[in-house]
Amino acid sequence: MSTLLYIEASPRKEKSISIQVSQAFLQAYQQSHPNDQIIKLDLWQLLLPEVEDQLLESRYALAQNQSPTAEQKAAWKAVENIISQFKQADRYLFSIPMWNFSIPYKLKHYIDLIVQPDYTFSFSPQEGYKGLVGNKPAAVVYARGGEYSSEIGPELKDFQTHYFETVLNFMGITTIQSIIAGPTAGPKKEEAVEQAIQQAVQIAAKF
Ligand SMILES: Cc1cc2nc3c(=O)[nH]c(=O)nc-3n(C[C@H](O)[C@H](O)[C@H](O)COP(=O)(O)O)c2cc1C
Repeated sequence: MSTLLYIEASPRKEKSISIQVSQAFLQAYQQSHPNDQIIKLDLWQLLLPEVEDQLLESRYALAQNQSPTAEQKAAWKAVENIISQFKQADRYLFSIPMWNFSIPYKLKHYIDLIVQPDYTFSFSPQEGYKGLVGNKPAAVVYARGGEYSSEIGPELKDFQTHYFETVLNFMGITTIQSIIAGPTAGPKKEEAVEQAIQQAVQIAAKF
């Protein structure tokens, strides 16, 4: 039995296109992988620890083998649990709206917690940077109101796909299948959503 971790970054729930496409993915996935477990992380329901001074002090105290206080240990343990849940998954599905050319801040918050040296990546002068999560399959549904392609022009920059893929690659996840749902604003919406759903179903069946 494998575990699929589904991470949801839109607050719009039943109105959300990225969630609608992801639901189609999950349904198809469940049909083709009936014994697999799906764990959902709704980033708008989670109370993620703030990445504030004391949390970073706890992290550095532990990393430098100083003597952290019980409070510092507990604070960092909460982050370790989040990282370990992420690393334990065998596959990933992310649903991500584009917000101001990039990703919603709740997802950035989650990334700032899980992308940690010696947990999800390592660095050595000999080997440089190495991802530690393992190259597990990932599918990403990207929703966006506008159109982003070389024909549209360079003035609209897509930092959503480029940023998120860079983060996944950095942790060692390089087998990524992207599903673009958009433009979700304007007359092309229905066609764009339909296409994204079809693509999601196809990918999920063989994921
Ligand atoms: C705060 C905010 C910022 C947005 N910024 C962009 C943007 O930079 N580019 C774009 O094409 N669409 C932008 N949109 C539109 C969303 O990407 C679009 O509505 C998409 O369908 C959202 O995904 P969802 O339906 O899964 O929530 C923005 C929407 C919101 C709420």
